[in-house]
Amino acid sequence: KSGLTTDFIGHNLFIYDETDTTNNRAKESNSSPDGSVFIAEVQTHGKGSRGRGWTSPRGIGIWHSILLKPEISPLEVSQITLVAGLAVCKAIGLNSMIKWPNDIVINGKKICGILTEMSAEINMVNYVVCGIGVNVNTESFDDDIADKATSMFIESGHKYVRNELIAKLLNEFECYYKKFLDGGLSAILDEYKKCCVTLGREVNVIFKNETVRGTAVDVDENGSLAVQTENGIIHVTSGEVSVRGI
Ligand code: BTN
Repeated sequence: KSGLTTDFIGHNLFIYDETDTTNNRAKESNSSPDGSVFIAEVQTHGKGSRGRGWTSPRGIGIWHSILLKPEISPLEVSQITLVAGLAVCKAIGLNSMIKWPNDIVINGKKICGILTEMSAEINMVNYVVCGIGVNVNTESFDDDIADKATSMFIESGHKYVRNELIAKLLNEFECYYKKFLDGGLSAILDEYKKCCVTLGREVNVIFKNETVRGTAVDVDENGSLAVQTENGIIHVTSGEVSVRGI
């Protein structure tokens, strides 16, 4: 726990040498305390968003999931992804930016992905699992993703001590998460927007099953992306947004 200064996030740490996906470990252990963190050296079946996989090689990344028990509505859970994105962006530094809603990119290349899952009743959240994967000391990527992915090593030219980075990340996470619980997304929205590379860009979004073109103009207090199209402003809640040129 090198440098962890949190009140509760990461106080319970579960460390796995190898596991399929840390999100499953967190779900299984959902009776563990709020803020428990599940970390693996390697994931054999890392999960990405929209049913995709997430490559999680041994020893060179931070593959971890945070178990959370917020008293919020299930409709607000996706906002935790934005909270996590901002925290990661601050922890990584290196000109990293957030590509709305849940990718951290540097010069258009992805360095981190976030997959938030929940268990909820109609209007009550049982628990949330926020899975965060950061490419830290990766030296190179397979050809098929080399133009889309990057790592902290590739961007900075030096290797990082992962324990220190995890501590920094969890410290940042707790700071923004507390603000979010106290004041809602509005409490961190200005900072989020400053780090959001999507704003001001031309985007293609899938809206009601159609691809719509427009300019991303805002992130609203629900976390939706406001897109100016030729037929007016639409609010996109989540899903596929491709930012042209990124
Ligand atoms: C994405 O597709 O961008 C989301 C990637 C999320 C990866 C992290 S790594 C830790 C946690 N465990 C998983 O299997 N996925 C998340």
